Amino acid sequence: MPTEHHTGLILGIESSCDETAAAVVRAGGHALSNVVASQMELHANYGGVVPELASREHLRNIVLVVREALTRANVTFSDLDAIAVTSGPGLAGALLVGITYAKALAFGSGKPLIAVNHLEGHIHAVLMEARERAEAPMELPLLALVVSGGHTHLYLAEHPKRQGSAVAPTGTVQNTWQYRNVGRTVDDAAGEAFDKVAKLLGLGYPGGPWIDTLASHGNPRAVPFTFSQIKPRASKLEHAAAQSSNGQGTPSLPPAPNYDFSFSGIKTAVLRYTQTHAMQAAIETRRRAFTANPALKPSSPEALALLDPQTLDLIASFQNAVVGNLLRQTFAAAEVFGARGLVVSGGVAANSELRHRFTAEAARRGLPVAFPSLALSTDNAAMIAAAAWPRFLAADFAPEDLTAAPQLRLG
Ligand code: KG4
Ligand code: ZN
Repeated sequence: MPTEHHTGLILGIESSCDETAAAVVRAGGHALSNVVASQMELHANYGGVVPELASREHLRNIVLVVREALTRANVTFSDLDAIAVTSGPGLAGALLVGITYAKALAFGSGKPLIAVNHLEGHIHAVLMEARERAEAPMELPLLALVVSGGHTHLYLAEHPKRQGSAVAPTGTVQNTWQYRNVGRTVDDAAGEAFDKVAKLLGLGYPGGPWIDTLASHGNPRAVPFTFSQIKPRASKLEHAAAQSSNGQGTPSLPPAPNYDFSFSGIKTAVLRYTQTHAMQAAIETRRRAFTANPALKPSSPEALALLDPQTLDLIASFQNAVVGNLLRQTFAAAEVFGARGLVVSGGVAANSELRHRFTAEAARRGLPVAFPSLALSTDNAAMIAAAAWPRFLAADFAPEDLTAAPQLRLG
């Protein structure tokens, strides 16, 4: 159990994908340091994350990154209450680097180790910054859209049904929340769609920031993309069948609502559009130009000069369709589940059109909505240390045999 003498300081370590990160956070609400070593340039050469390279880079960086996080926070290992690490989901080899180092540190310093789900971390990035701004906590149930390069999930965060609370040092009661996964992508993640579409249009990596910047130069209504109906998952079908049977096998209720996403269709539609509109030659020219000059930024005039109006319209229409789909599913789920607040987090939450449209729609409905700052939208360790705080208070520590859980789920 946490003692009377704790400092509230948790060292967070994150290595689930292509960022080696460490941070020191006090009481889940104040980041003293937040260090991220990005491998983006390394993977840009391949147009996506290469797992073996990612593990090797984590190994190279992790000691330095952790040391830097402690230095910037002006603390030593002995000042810490606990060490928190991402245990999944993510790339197995990448996760193992962080977990193994965190376990060794915890063992060596005699501090407890806390395992954190990366997806819960993304949600806590928002909560931590709200605490930093001394805002009143959002009310539950809360709907969280976690939307990144690897994930597109809708979670309903609720008070736990069974006891799981602990008394915080200030006397306030902190609960670890209970999550219900009420929607997810059935194929590609939204960020993956941004990355793949950018790649097939000959743009840079990662694709999200490129599309975000270039979309403002095109007409979002030029290409009318439609999202085909997503089939309910098997469990939902069974649930619907059970609900709809009145004892004689006669259906009496409509199927359960479905808040799943699908983004592989739109990627294929963009590809088909480029083929039917003879855009391949321009794409190849662009790809060669960007490969020859990887330092080109999407906002630079040189980059814009390589984009014709038809391509800019296609980019704007793609972004408009993806954001529209995320918006519709999220707000429909918020209404059905009676959400009292909305959190949008993960790399794609950095998207300017997404922020603009979600903010406007939430205001229209009188629903509070919160996003992380741009720095905390993408992967970082401050969110891991913040998510560990309620677990520390509940003395919810990791077992000695903690290992990577690449497919770890939330809810
Ligand atoms: O959360 P994150 O750093 O890593 C994962 O857990 O996946 O998210 C990275 C993803 C990439 O797919 C990237 O293209 C996307 O977030 N992204 C964006 C933007 N910035 C990053 N997508 C759309 N608009 C952006 N501004
Ligand atoms: Zn992430």
